[in-house]
Amino acid sequence: MQSYPDELTYDLVGAASEVLELEPAAILEAFGEYWILYTAEEGYGEMLALSGSTLAEFLGNLNLLHERITNIMPQLKPPKFSTKEISENQVELTYESDRDGLTSMVVGLLRGLGKRFGKNCEINQTEFRADSGKDVLMFLGKKINFIIE
Ligand code: HEM
Repeated sequence: MQSYPDELTYDLVGAASEVLELEPAAILEAFGEYWILYTAEEGYGEMLALSGSTLAEFLGNLNLLHERITNIMPQLKPPKFSTKEISENQVELTYESDRDGLTSMVVGLLRGLGKRFGKNCEINQTEFRADSGKDVLMFLGKKINFIIE
């Protein structure tokens, strides 16, 4: 329940990438999936269970989930998500963060969630925008859209 500098995360990914001879993106993606299937389940199982009984519902509650943590630790700057139902089996998820380079972790987290909900997910990144000046208070306004089928 303590915050730590972002540099630690990036340094760890860098070091793991060197030792394992894998691209940082592959490390982040594997970490994201593992975090959902193991870490979150072990550490925050109840919160996960309360955040939705379907994948779509869960994705729609991601902000609420992070807001709960921010209530306890107000110094956090969690990402912001929004969802749009494209069709019965397709959700568009928009991810906004003021941090760079964590998109691959989001792909891994989504993969983990797909497995958690027993869904065979296809995750396609559809857009990357870096229009700073938007939502400057909390976010630089980097938006990344995913279509999850
Ligand atoms: C019980 C479940 C969860 C808890 C307790 C939790 C909590 C947190 C916390 C404390 C941070 C760090 C924020 C900061 O230091 O500013 C964070 C970051 C993050 N969370 Fe969650 N989270 C949960 C689930 C999820 C899920 C399911 C996703 C799926 C998309 C997600 C996506 C992210 C991402 C991408 C970040 C990195 C920060 C960034 O992009 O700027 N989290 N979360």
